[in-house]
Amino acid sequence: MRITLNDDFVPQSLNPSDVSGPSGGQLLKGVFVSTYGCQMNVNDSERMLALLEMMNYSSVAAPELADLIIINSCSVREKPVHKVRSEVGRYRDLKRKNPALRIGVGGCVAQQEKDSLLKDMPLLDFVFGTDSIDLLPEIVSTLETGKKVVRARFDHQSPYHIQTLLRETKVTAFVNIMKGCDNFCTFCVVPFTRGRERSRPLDQVVKDVQSLVARGVQEVTLLGQNVNSYRSACGADFAQLLLALCESTLIKRIRFTTSHPKDFDLNLAKVLQAHRDKLMDYIHLPAQSGSSAILERMNRGYTREAYIEKAQMLMSEIPGVALSTDIIVGFPGESESQFEETMELLDIVPFENVYSFKYSPRPLTKAARFTDPVSEELMNQRLQRLQRKQAQIAESLAQKYIGRSLEVLVENRGQNSGRLCGRSTQNRLTQFAGDDALIGQTVKVKILQAHAQNLQGELL
Ligand code: 5AD
Ligand code: SF4
Repeated sequence: MRITLNDDFVPQSLNPSDVSGPSGGQLLKGVFVSTYGCQMNVNDSERMLALLEMMNYSSVAAPELADLIIINSCSVREKPVHKVRSEVGRYRDLKRKNPALRIGVGGCVAQQEKDSLLKDMPLLDFVFGTDSIDLLPEIVSTLETGKKVVRARFDHQSPYHIQTLLRETKVTAFVNIMKGCDNFCTFCVVPFTRGRERSRPLDQVVKDVQSLVARGVQEVTLLGQNVNSYRSACGADFAQLLLALCESTLIKRIRFTTSHPKDFDLNLAKVLQAHRDKLMDYIHLPAQSGSSAILERMNRGYTREAYIEKAQMLMSEIPGVALSTDIIVGFPGESESQFEETMELLDIVPFENVYSFKYSPRPLTKAARFTDPVSEELMNQRLQRLQRKQAQIAESLAQKYIGRSLEVLVENRGQNSGRLCGRSTQNRLTQFAGDDALIGQTVKVKILQAHAQNLQGELL
């Protein structure tokens, strides 16, 4: 998956309702969840809130209103770890005013640091890892007895069964199809924070999607660290899972993330093309670097040439497909000419979006032991150069949508623009004027203006 991703790591309270405040004799208690990181974490936060709702907790919009605060953390790069520490520090006054307030850390930092977090931060009451979300009811009950709790063991044995939990139906939903990662890219902490790769049985994913459809969900995004290595206990691979979902459910649209270039094969591309009505023509395919030498040091399992060939295969098998990628600049030992190879990759593969990051050494990873770091100054320069180049490319690639009619699934009304917002099949955020009754419907929108981040159009 992507832990992508592609986010700005701004903590967010998920779907706050304005019910309740600190307990004060009320029936409902307030829980505030702040979420960092990828879509996997966003989905995990929704699961936490759904579980806590069954225990009479209700999501609140601000930590001041909460009896329970959960920081769902991300450790994919260094900064988010610091953000957790400073966020916990900000709750010092709240805890002083309300000693009954319970504060916990979940997610990848929790999985990684376990009980050492409690030792480092006495303000914390509980820590629970990525495999322990379903223990939340038990954890919260234990907290109510006044004890501190740590649950951060991986469950390597039992099969992966995790039915999607939603508090309310929206137009789109995330569905976990697998967890963990066995790839051990040398920069990546995920194999340590999410454990070994395990897939959900195909029939369970199909039933899950059927019941989401029955609740009114129109689009699912299948989540996994590396969806291309999905393998059901019955032997079905990812392409077979997609086929089963197309054939045995009435879901309107299917997206997925994240794909690994080494495992994305021709057969999968053909399935995507054959079922374009349901399978969206957008693929996030993290390259990480455009240099074969760096890719080898990253243990990515492909060369620059193989990546380019794969992207070209996708573009020819699925005409019009939109591609996006992740790039790390300043990986240890990255020379100027190796960085230039990454810059050139942007000229060769037309990425509509590039999520770029400065390399950040992560504990336990192999690359953290490499002894040839790139200086912070050089990393900053390279990141800026790459982002400047990509901004131009993205703006000019967007122009091809002008005058075209795109199919858009309407998701909501934008708070700032006041216009309806949805995604085109290519995952382009599209805005246009229209009635609320269109929310949840797929409509045709003619594009009048195009920018890197959004398209503006009119309803046809
Ligand atoms: N440093 C910088 N970026 C990283 N990513 C993962 N680990 C690191 C790291 N140690 C990026 C990769 C990945 C995305 C989710 O985060 O580009 O695809
Ligand atoms: Fe993705 Fe590699 Fe990390 Fe696995 S180890 S999550 S494939 S970057």
